[in-house]
Amino acid sequence: MAPNDAAVEAVLAYHRRTKHHLHRYAASPGYLDWATQPDPFRTFDGADRVELPLQADRLAVAYDGLYRPGAVPPLPLDRTSVAMLFELALGLSAWKQYAGNRWALRCNPSSGNLHPTEGYAILPAMPGLAAGVYHYLSRDHALEQRCGLDGPAAQHLAAALPPASCLVGLSSIHWREAWKYGERAFRYCQHDVGHAIAAVRYAAATLGWSATLIADVSDPTLGAMLGLTQSESVAAIAVADREHPDALLLVGPFAPPAYGKEPARVDLATMRAVLQAGKWAGRANPLSPAHVPWPAIDAAAEATWRADGAGAPWCRSDVAPSDRAALGSASSDGPAPLSAVQLIKQRRSCLALDGTTAMAAARFYAILDRLLPRPGAPPWDVWPWPAHLHCGIFVHRVHGVPPGLYFLERNPAAHARLQATLGADFSWARPDGCPEALPLFALAAGDFREVAQTVSCHQQIAEGGAFSLGMLADFADSIRAAGAWWYRRLFWESGLLGQVLYLEAEAASLRGTGIGCYFDDAFHDVCGVRDERFQSLYHFTVGRPVEDPRLLTRPAYFHLDPARRDAR
Ligand SMILES: Cc1cc2nc3c(=O)[nH]c(=O)nc-3n(C[C@H](O)[C@H](O)[C@H](O)COP(=O)(O)O)c2cc1C
Repeated sequence: MAPNDAAVEAVLAYHRRTKHHLHRYAASPGYLDWATQPDPFRTFDGADRVELPLQADRLAVAYDGLYRPGAVPPLPLDRTSVAMLFELALGLSAWKQYAGNRWALRCNPSSGNLHPTEGYAILPAMPGLAAGVYHYLSRDHALEQRCGLDGPAAQHLAAALPPASCLVGLSSIHWREAWKYGERAFRYCQHDVGHAIAAVRYAAATLGWSATLIADVSDPTLGAMLGLTQSESVAAIAVADREHPDALLLVGPFAPPAYGKEPARVDLATMRAVLQAGKWAGRANPLSPAHVPWPAIDAAAEATWRADGAGAPWCRSDVAPSDRAALGSASSDGPAPLSAVQLIKQRRSCLALDGTTAMAAARFYAILDRLLPRPGAPPWDVWPWPAHLHCGIFVHRVHGVPPGLYFLERNPAAHARLQATLGADFSWARPDGCPEALPLFALAAGDFREVAQTVSCHQQIAEGGAFSLGMLADFADSIRAAGAWWYRRLFWESGLLGQVLYLEAEAASLRGTGIGCYFDDAFHDVCGVRDERFQSLYHFTVGRPVEDPRLLTRPAYFHLDPARRDAR
């Protein structure tokens, strides 16, 4: 067996063993050990700090404007715009308080609010910020300078970047999720990376900026660029508290590449060499006093490690430009345009749904439409690969759309294989009244509320809303074709879908919630999926929330020095 095949089999084995089953959950601690709860905030002791201004509220950008290329005039790349980018992508959105406990929420959601994702900026010199590598500390809305560059090195870094751009890096600390969820945590970390990628893309769009995921960066290169293996920084902390490299995005006020064209290239080799020779500072904080080992997670991380030179079978130029016209806004029928910044900051998960509110068909279709990859439309223009995920949708309460199981096909190239794989009894009918351009099919009519709740680990939120769904990935064949590293990208794509649904739910005056806890094969049975060609990677629900009046809410940065807050 070739090494790559071994890695593929290892990650497929991880996927199988981390399925929740109706009769058995995936391995987890089974209780919360509060004494070892990981610190949700990474800090770098000894690194110089740059406090960022809190200025995103000044951006008067309509949410719908984000989807119209050229509608938002680009801001220049400087300290204020970088601050706004991080505030809206990974910054705090509120604090919640209950019975003496207080916890922060962020613009990006996270399974269990555990936030394994860390954010970095690699910046050329710009007004208000020196060239270097910075870690973003969301708690303080501050950048910690991990690597500084002197004059010539700063010039080399700038030369390795396309004009008017910088880099945003993302990494994960698997232990933060494993502490609560055990073996399944590696999946949740990948979901969260996907959400964070989309959150960065949307934040960039509010600045009028482009953003694109760098498709070919390897994990060793990214780890070195972000300083994750920088020995003085991490030698003193447990291996479990260290970060795993994930994604790198090119972000800035540069003109987006023409559709189907590669974005301007980042000279990663030069960048890595320049940064490795830079002056690094800061020691990572320990997160927990003790850790529980989860060898299955380590094995999945090793198998999906993307080594230098790993090829990619798909690239942006393979993505067929969509000729479908966008359906238009789900949100433009209100009295005033919705503010993008407000929507991003008010995004929340629901704890319960009311079990009665129905939504209009037009809005339902418009939300699904936003899940389709389209040139120039965030967050899909960040994604350099063709769509590999589709949605099996339980319609519960949508006026004019009969309850039942529906299917949104996000990549027409998969149609024949989907029809051959999913249940033979499905009708694949086009729903009455469904816009021509929306590739939605009715599979089976009926009341799926109980089924939806059951397959989503019995959670009420899966049946109490207008609709819920499971994301079916084109799975084993695509992983075999690309290599085991592709497993993580499939989950990232599901996180992007989730982030769109979160924002669209808010725009429709409803609320969404990602559902990572579901019974994989129970959902597959409903869809008639009998093998690994397609697998469900993430679920989601949308409906009218029922608030918990016991929870107090405090503003995102109320804990900062008032002078800093008021300097807005
Ligand atoms: C990948 C992922 C999986 C999640 N799974 C569930 C779930 O199964 N059930 C649930 O009630 N909430 C779930 N959530 C919602 C999180 O609990 C929520 O994002 C977190 O508490 C932070 O709150 P916020 O989204 O309001 O910022 C999930 C969120 C994500 C991103």
